[in-house]
Amino acid sequence: MRKELLAGLDLGTTRVSLVVAERRVGGELAVLGMGRSPSSGLRRGVVLDLERTAQAIAAVAIGAERMAGTEVRRVCLAVSGDHIASENSRGVVAVSGPEGEITADDVARAMEAARAVPLPPGREVIHVLPRGYVVDGYRGVRDPVGMAAGRLEVEANIVTGAAASLQNLFKTVHLAGLSLQDAVLAAVASAEAVLEPAEKEFGVILADIGGGTTDVAVYDGGGLWCAFVLPLGGDYLTSDLAVGLRTPVSQAEKIKREHGWAMAEQAAEDAWVEVPGMGGSGPRQVPEKLVASILEARVEEIFSLLRSRLERSGYRGFSPGGMVLTGGTARLRGITAAAAKVMGMPVRLGLPRGLTGMSDLVGEPGEATAVGLLHCAARSRGGEVQRRTGAGRGWRRIGDLVRELLN
Ligand SMILES: Nc1ncnc2c1ncn2[C@@H]1O[C@H](COP(=O)(O)OP(=O)(O)OP(=O)(O)O)[C@@H](O)[C@H]1O
Ligand SMILES: [Mg+2]
Repeated sequence: MRKELLAGLDLGTTRVSLVVAERRVGGELAVLGMGRSPSSGLRRGVVLDLERTAQAIAAVAIGAERMAGTEVRRVCLAVSGDHIASENSRGVVAVSGPEGEITADDVARAMEAARAVPLPPGREVIHVLPRGYVVDGYRGVRDPVGMAAGRLEVEANIVTGAAASLQNLFKTVHLAGLSLQDAVLAAVASAEAVLEPAEKEFGVILADIGGGTTDVAVYDGGGLWCAFVLPLGGDYLTSDLAVGLRTPVSQAEKIKREHGWAMAEQAAEDAWVEVPGMGGSGPRQVPEKLVASILEARVEEIFSLLRSRLERSGYRGFSPGGMVLTGGTARLRGITAAAAKVMGMPVRLGLPRGLTGMSDLVGEPGEATAVGLLHCAARSRGGEVQRRTGAGRGWRRIGDLVRELLN
């Protein structure tokens, strides 16, 4: 049996990652290789420079291909940005079969009806995700096909984004010489990598805190309840430290990772940090508590904003599954305790899982999105996504150019 190659491409604010895996007999997903490079031409999920982003994609694709010993042609892409919105919708149909049994076609028609919400101009649907079915008024049905009924209703969540921002993302993929298998909301991909099915069932809030954004997905009853993107992430922690301690950004980043705590009370009383000054001025000794108190203010802001967005979304669920943190910033020491304090619920760290092969390459929380894309790609199996990008015709593909230069 031919093994199937899958690739996940995450265009983050801080770095671009491309992971290649092989789907083996029995469904096992084995990582074959990955490419990673600092991001350029892109900020908070929005492309600012098509060519530079495409070049970064082509370069990581070549790195991943070399490690995996195979060519990458199609990728599953993560989409993010604060233009993302989600809303709940319903679709109702009369069961059409002669036997009065629900068929796959009835389910498809119900989904189509749920999808038919009026969209403001310039918006595009990214996902229509079913949360559950109501069969003749009975809620909580997971798989209605084959059930005898007169009326089928689907409860779905519709995720949309700004069409222009999405088109630019897709364009960079084509410019890099790759085709698009599917586009998945970054938070949904991360959720696939780090959440347990039981948590989604119970009710759980996933937050992927990256460099420039916090991607949030709320699950309830097994399906997506809502998703949103906050324009805040770990890079703000770094710039707050750079300003507060008057030190270069590169030093602030190092101090954050090595000496940072999410709450002042977590830092030891007698611990000191050496802080290099600006413009070659000599280092100073600063209490670790001061570093932590600068970080605490911003961490609190991120979770308070998350909480108020959640309240505005109408989510009144109690979320017994609590909150799961992933993304690079989930590595900030003490952040789960800080989140638990603001959110008033249990919070755990979510690491990407479910892969074999060279899975150590993608074990850090910053790789949750890329790993989740592989899980989504394994499931989608559909044909190529037809996107109106216009790229690849008049344009000289940057991927070919970069390949020529590197080979
Ligand atoms: N050990 C650590 N402690 C604290 N912060 C960390 C640590 N490791 C990484 N980070 C932070 O994680 C952030 C990068 O996370 P990630 O790789 O998930 O972002 P991204 O996907 O590129 O960005 P985004 O999702 O916002 O577009 C950076 O702000 C970085 O400083
Ligand atoms: Mg990210």
